[in-house]
Amino acid sequence: MAYKYLTEDIIQKIDEYRNKFPYKEQAIIPSLHEILEKYRDIPEKSLEELAEYLKVPLNHIEGIVSFYDMFRFKKNARHHIRICRNLPCHLANYQSLLEKIKELTNADVGKSSADGRWYIELVECIGSCAIAPAFLIDNDLYDGSNLTDEELKKILEKYK
Ligand code: FES
Repeated sequence: MAYKYLTEDIIQKIDEYRNKFPYKEQAIIPSLHEILEKYRDIPEKSLEELAEYLKVPLNHIEGIVSFYDMFRFKKNARHHIRICRNLPCHLANYQSLLEKIKELTNADVGKSSADGRWYIELVECIGSCAIAPAFLIDNDLYDGSNLTDEELKKILEKYK
């Protein structure tokens, strides 16, 4: 069957995940990441295609998508900023970093900036507590500790 959203490159990745894990269900989350990466969103129809391809029930995949914020939030902006809000990052004052980022991007948590450039999301631990407050812009990880406003500005300028 020809798929609209599961393109050849995505299918190749899904096959890799399927071969890597003992259970096909374990390929679901990384496969969803591939879809999100490509379309900056999770198209509804892609879930049906993934369910069919992996031969898992559609409602199982839908349950995963609705459970995880990272899949539920639509990512319509060109760049996606994820700021960790868990305890170590909380203690390292992620709130102040967030305020600076909001000011510099004109975006707000859960809302894209008017120019469509930025989308900000607060997320759970991203496994980088040593550089708390940690944040990601698209797939690039940043150390938010001791960042001056000027340095932050320069980082943001890299993403057009
Ligand atoms: S708690 Fe923020 S990266 Fe782990």
